Amino acid sequence: MNIAIFASGEGSNAAVIMKTFGSFIKKETASLAVVISNNEKAGVLNIAADHNIPCEIVLLKNKTDAQQTEAYFKLLEKYKIEFIVLAGYLKKLPKEITNAYFKKIINIHPALLPAYGGAGMYGKFVHKAVISAGETQSGITVHYVDEVYDHGQIIFQVKCAVEKNDTAEDLAQKILGLEHKFYTEILAKTILSQIPVK
Ligand code: GRF
Repeated sequence: MNIAIFASGEGSNAAVIMKTFGSFIKKETASLAVVISNNEKAGVLNIAADHNIPCEIVLLKNKTDAQQTEAYFKLLEKYKIEFIVLAGYLKKLPKEITNAYFKKIINIHPALLPAYGGAGMYGKFVHKAVISAGETQSGITVHYVDEVYDHGQIIFQVKCAVEKNDTAEDLAQKILGLEHKFYTEILAKTILSQIPVK
């Protein structure tokens, strides 16, 4: 099964996936075929190059919705992609893609969905909102992706405490640590659960 990683930025989750995926799944079963980004300056592109994984930039600017969808499909077909993992991908995928890849796209969100999700809830905005609301717990959510932001079926969650004096930065650190600890394993388990036993 060929897998694509979609990422827009730093790529610390993508880096962990590239480093450890092979320890969860044999490469004959599933392999990381391409990293796709909407951002040609994304740090994740250098990380992919270090792992000898091809990179592609999906050019979305000045394109109609239909042209954007076509650009995505073109890349997904080029690499015969059957499963997509979003790792800090900031663009909403067209519904034609989320429909074609129903239960074949997963995302990680730095909060306990369905709370603190949706448009505008990314990065430090999530942690600031959690702290301002006086929450005593936050965490991570791995979920399938559908056409609504942060909405698809939840696959996995793990909680962490929000301490009284935690800043948004403290919470971000804690949560990123959890993401790195769990995302690759959950990705691998999700893929393996979908492969029929021979
Ligand atoms: C992570 O916090 C993840 O929850 C969110 O985007 C961030 C990506 O960080 N979807 P990185 O690029 O993997 O460092």
